[in-house]
Amino acid sequence: MKKIKLKLVERSYDITIGSGVVRQLGDVIKTMKYAGPIVVITDKTVNSKAKAVIASMLKQMPEATSFIIVPGTEKSKSIATYQDTLVRISKRTKNHKPLIVALGGGVVGDLAGFVAATFRRGVPCIQIPTTLLAQVDSSVGGKVGIDLPAAKNLVGAFHQPEQVFVDTDFLRTLPARQIRNGLAEIIKYGIISNAAFFAYLEKNVFGILSLKKSILERVIHECLKIKARAVEKDEKDDKDIRITLNFGHTLGHAIETASGYSKAYNHGESIAVGMLLAGEIAMRLDMLAEKDFIRIKELIRKTGLPTRVSGVTLKDILSSHEYDKKFISGSNRFVLPRKIGAVEVVEDIPVLLIKTVLRRYVG
Ligand code: GLY
Repeated sequence: MKKIKLKLVERSYDITIGSGVVRQLGDVIKTMKYAGPIVVITDKTVNSKAKAVIASMLKQMPEATSFIIVPGTEKSKSIATYQDTLVRISKRTKNHKPLIVALGGGVVGDLAGFVAATFRRGVPCIQIPTTLLAQVDSSVGGKVGIDLPAAKNLVGAFHQPEQVFVDTDFLRTLPARQIRNGLAEIIKYGIISNAAFFAYLEKNVFGILSLKKSILERVIHECLKIKARAVEKDEKDDKDIRITLNFGHTLGHAIETASGYSKAYNHGESIAVGMLLAGEIAMRLDMLAEKDFIRIKELIRKTGLPTRVSGVTLKDILSSHEYDKKFISGSNRFVLPRKIGAVEVVEDIPVLLIKTVLRRYVG
């Protein structure tokens, strides 16, 4: 088991990583001496596929625990599901402030976290991410929110969790595509801040895909150390530090939105291509050496993640890109690699260059 403390001025919290760590939840809730009811928000898949992992955790939950089960798809990050969840919680908890437990992947974590951030002007939340993607990224750092049809995460808040439990046993319940989904974010961490970690991934990618426990625990720990340090320095994402975690997301999100959050391209698959697009833009701006770009492309290829997209139009990608939160007063902003292990924020990339590069990867 490994622990990371995420230190913030107002409140710090622990991230506990390892096999079987969800079993600590009951004791942690007892220690918190939380008087209100507990509401676990989870998804259908966790409720069916991960029963064995959560069974002993559930046995230790206080009696006043209730469950809300939402579909685990991006569609649950809608205003309609958000409203429905709030109504259900208010009916069940009457005049008490509940403690929310987000038990699921990134969709559940974002939705439940946003519910916690806004219900009765904020109630506490414990994040228990069950997918590799949520474990290495979205469950930590307090960014929570829902989507609008025009773009992802357009409505949201910062609401730090009380604790995060990253239980690697959940990963055995996931299909290979979900592991690759998380791998895209893992590769991102190597590119943005740690060349030695990137080299470790090049050697151990198949160990991750085959769910080798020691490799997984080390990799998740490394990613969350990078994430925790970025959040500590720039919690509200206004100092050009936390934004580096969005490497590959600028056009990646646009691809995800343009494909209509369909089954065609999930988040990791979209940002895998987004990282290649950012890498190629950096190469054409003479910021990134071709040999580094080839290493990035080769590692993505080795994982089985896509290296290009089809069935999505350039027009739709460009129009989703206009909603990107990284835009400041009309100019575009990209996180671009300078080398493996270092990125930089670059503004005003010529639209012609973006279109030229997109044409090589789309269609
Ligand atoms: N996923 C990027 C962030 O938390 O800032």
